[in-house]
Amino acid sequence: MARTLITGGLVVTASDEMHVDVLIDQGKVVALATPDSHGWTADRVLDATGMYVIPGGVDAHTHMEMPFGGTTASDSFETGTRAAAWGGTTTIIDFAIQSRGGSLREGFDSWLHKADGQCAVDYAFHMIMSDVNESSLKEMDTLIEGGVSSFKLFTAYPGVFLSDDGQILRAMQRAADNGGLIMTHAENGLAIDVLVEQALARGERDPRYHGEVRKALLEAEATHRVIRLSQVAGAPVYVVHVSAQEAVAELARARDEGLPVFGETCPQYLFLSTDNLAEPDFEGAKYVCSTPLRPKEHQAALWRGLRTNDLQVVSTDHCPFCFKGQKDMGIGDFSRIPNGLPGVENRMDLLHQAVVDGHVSRTRWIDIACAAPAKMFGLYPQKGTIAPGADADIVIYDPEAEQVMSAKTHHMNVDYSAYEGKPVKGRVRTVLSRGVPVIEAGRYVGHAGHGTYLPRGLSQFP
Ligand code: URP
Ligand code: ZN
Ligand code: ZN
Repeated sequence: MARTLITGGLVVTASDEMHVDVLIDQGKVVALATPDSHGWTADRVLDATGMYVIPGGVDAHTHMEMPFGGTTASDSFETGTRAAAWGGTTTIIDFAIQSRGGSLREGFDSWLHKADGQCAVDYAFHMIMSDVNESSLKEMDTLIEGGVSSFKLFTAYPGVFLSDDGQILRAMQRAADNGGLIMTHAENGLAIDVLVEQALARGERDPRYHGEVRKALLEAEATHRVIRLSQVAGAPVYVVHVSAQEAVAELARARDEGLPVFGETCPQYLFLSTDNLAEPDFEGAKYVCSTPLRPKEHQAALWRGLRTNDLQVVSTDHCPFCFKGQKDMGIGDFSRIPNGLPGVENRMDLLHQAVVDGHVSRTRWIDIACAAPAKMFGLYPQKGTIAPGADADIVIYDPEAEQVMSAKTHHMNVDYSAYEGKPVKGRVRTVLSRGVPVIEAGRYVGHAGHGTYLPRGLSQFP
């Protein structure tokens, strides 16, 4: 395997910015040193002058090929991980799903099979528990031994994924014993279903009503509930795709009390709003996801939460459905629009734009996009940093490049971009995955099957 030297760049990690060269051998970072202090030779030298040298992104929330609402997310593991690489993400953590009446192991095996030999970058799995019972609770222990150490439970989607409070408490109690991390989709799904029915009866059928019935208060209520259930169980909890300022306030209050409570938000909540859901001619369907987009005013609380560490991670919740042929299942009934947005390719760039806009610092960019998700889900320091011994998952990033986001140029297998026409500063130039080039000077040189399954350890709570 080629010994590689990256010279002349600014290495940015979650904790440091250093003008150092990076030596890579056997797929690992071997050493960092100032350019005038070493005499390293290598088979391949990558000149990063004027560039940032950053860890590959860790996207801890994706749904490749996810069956949902009578259709399937349009990115396969092959197309989705290729797009991830284009966007500077070198690790994804996707969600295997336990079907109702099925075991966790069956769900896990089925997702391992879907991903096997397909991925351009490394991948791991969380487990969605849709059937919490004696047997699936016991199975959590064996899944943890197999490298699946986090479990998503839903207070939403009655009849599909929803677990009741007793089931959630039991799973949290088990996690308190076995070290697993419970992730929650926190919205009051039973109350939302009542509001959906009433809205449809009033003839409110457009995509924008998706945002109106999935009220911020119902996100906050469920967030409060799962936090208190976790407190009773004596277990940590990680709340996924936080979008409402009231939910951030619940997390902040609990953290001020010293509870091990963690939160993730997503670029769509930071950059998009209910204005997008209200776009005419059914275009709003492109922005239907749950939790839903919120009025713009909520964004300040999310950015603040990321700065104060009340929110630790930005993941994409990448779950793409094509506008034509998938989203249009909900024409005339917003509740039939498949929930989810594309974004795995856009996250690192959008968060760099957040640096340019002054929302977060450069090191915080790397923390929320690389280091914190790796720590949260037991992959650090193998992933998420540039340090001796770490996997050489490295992005050479041009901070001065300008690009305009568009479905015409993206690589995700979906017929629209949620950020169509958005100009951003910064662009990925080169991506290494375990030292192997995947993107080289703006060209894809990777291949399906390079990415390997990553068994994870227990959370290292950042
Ligand atoms: O709308 C979303 N978020 N779709 C994906 C499934 C989920 O709840 O994360
Ligand atoms: Zn969810
Ligand atoms: Zn999701």
